[in-house]
Amino acid sequence: MGEADTSAAHEDELSAFRSAAHALVDSVADHLAALPSRPVWQPLPDALRKQLLDLPLPEHPSALDDLVVTASRDVLPHAMGNGHPAFFGWVNPPPSPAGVMASLAAAAMNPSVVSGDHADVHLERAVVRWLAELVGFAHAPGAGLLTSGGSAATIVCLAGARSRALAAAGHDVRRHGLAGAPQLIAYVPAEAHSCVRRALELLGLGSSAMREVPLEGGRLNGTALRASIAADRAGGALPALLVGSAGTVNAGAIDPLNTLADVASAEDLWFHVDGAYGAFGVLDPAIAARYRGMERADSLVLDPHKWLGVPVDAGCALVQRGDDLRDAFSLTPPYLRQDADAPAGTFAEHGFEQTRPFRALKTWATIAARGRAGIAAQVARANALARELAALVEREPELELAAAPETSIVAFRARPSGCPPARLDELNRALPEAVQARGRAFVTGTVFGGRETLRACILHPDTSSEHLATLLTEVVAAARTLAAAD
Ligand SMILES: Cc1ncc(COP(=O)(O)O)c(C=O)c1O
Repeated sequence: MGEADTSAAHEDELSAFRSAAHALVDSVADHLAALPSRPVWQPLPDALRKQLLDLPLPEHPSALDDLVVTASRDVLPHAMGNGHPAFFGWVNPPPSPAGVMASLAAAAMNPSVVSGDHADVHLERAVVRWLAELVGFAHAPGAGLLTSGGSAATIVCLAGARSRALAAAGHDVRRHGLAGAPQLIAYVPAEAHSCVRRALELLGLGSSAMREVPLEGGRLNGTALRASIAADRAGGALPALLVGSAGTVNAGAIDPLNTLADVASAEDLWFHVDGAYGAFGVLDPAIAARYRGMERADSLVLDPHKWLGVPVDAGCALVQRGDDLRDAFSLTPPYLRQDADAPAGTFAEHGFEQTRPFRALKTWATIAARGRAGIAAQVARANALARELAALVEREPELELAAAPETSIVAFRARPSGCPPARLDELNRALPEAVQARGRAFVTGTVFGGRETLRACILHPDTSSEHLATLLTEVVAAARTLAAAD
């Protein structure tokens, strides 16, 4: 092929891209517009599920236009449901339109966001600073990075904690691993997200190194915690980490962060706050005071892909001292040394990913499209809706509230009339999937306070009082049906 042929082929390819991408944007916009009038979620038709699972590897190329048709017909309509305003499951918001749009541009640039003088690197530094500013956490360049989510950010932060604690004890964990190291101990509330335990397991501390933080009704029993720390020290272990939640996954509860920070500082522990779901709640003036102490954390995890609605994936690890991460992760072989001398280092020196996607553009777009005030208003609205839902639950004799909501998660149970108390746990366990199958609302379950419980998480900017009423109507109806069966 001559040069002219190559450039004509390139132009043809770009023109096919332009027309197919325009068609895809139209199809995506139609999909988003249709969401509220469709069932929240539906099982895939058997034939389509089989077709997707059995897709043969194509031998020959397909036209981009055909890919758009297939994706629009077979994929887009069969989503998880979190685009719908009556979706209350897990902690999954709809994507912000600005973030969806920016994802296309980020993919078109396709950088590896590590180092160098290109826009993506500088934008990630700015966006990490914005996130820190949004939640009132002090930030110096290098003391944070975007990750794939809260779980990855937790591993990053706790690796920093492990490295610092062992270095202080004279043990170089990067050189020697954990062999010969003192046993590190982590104090973790029972309601902490499982990603904390997973990080401790991965980092070699083992879950047997976890002690439960004595929290009762949101209050810390400081005496019991300090006694537990003293007992560990007396036994030759090295207390290293104290964890608090700025919004628990089960009930959206905010731990007494300031009291936890006091203990961490008195006992020389690394204080880690999991704000993956709840940290942005601090933007709601009605509950901002509950977050006092979050700013004292040694590390803070945020998930822009939760309350902010940045399209998955976008997590964020923030630390007080960037060097804690750099000490834990920096490894710069000659083939990667671009910018290694920069004072803030490279992103790869502060986490475990080398090739890193351009998460900052969709995060930037999502924040910029609403502004701080818009985000704060959305957060406050979600919290107000949660209080409204709790009040509705309390008014409904066949439901009971499991905890007064502090943020935008409401934990509650069904107790349909005629259902014997001994059957209630079994019924509440089956209830979320029974509600989901009806297609009008989507809620998920958990175990809270030792009992099977539903939890409704409100994150969708378009959720209204009407959707709350639908949720409860659906829960009561599904509960009655379950109670009537056998
Ligand atoms: C409180 C809390 N922490 C951590 C996580 C884990 O975050 P990710 O799913 O982004 O890894 C979640 C996820 O729901 C969460 O709710």
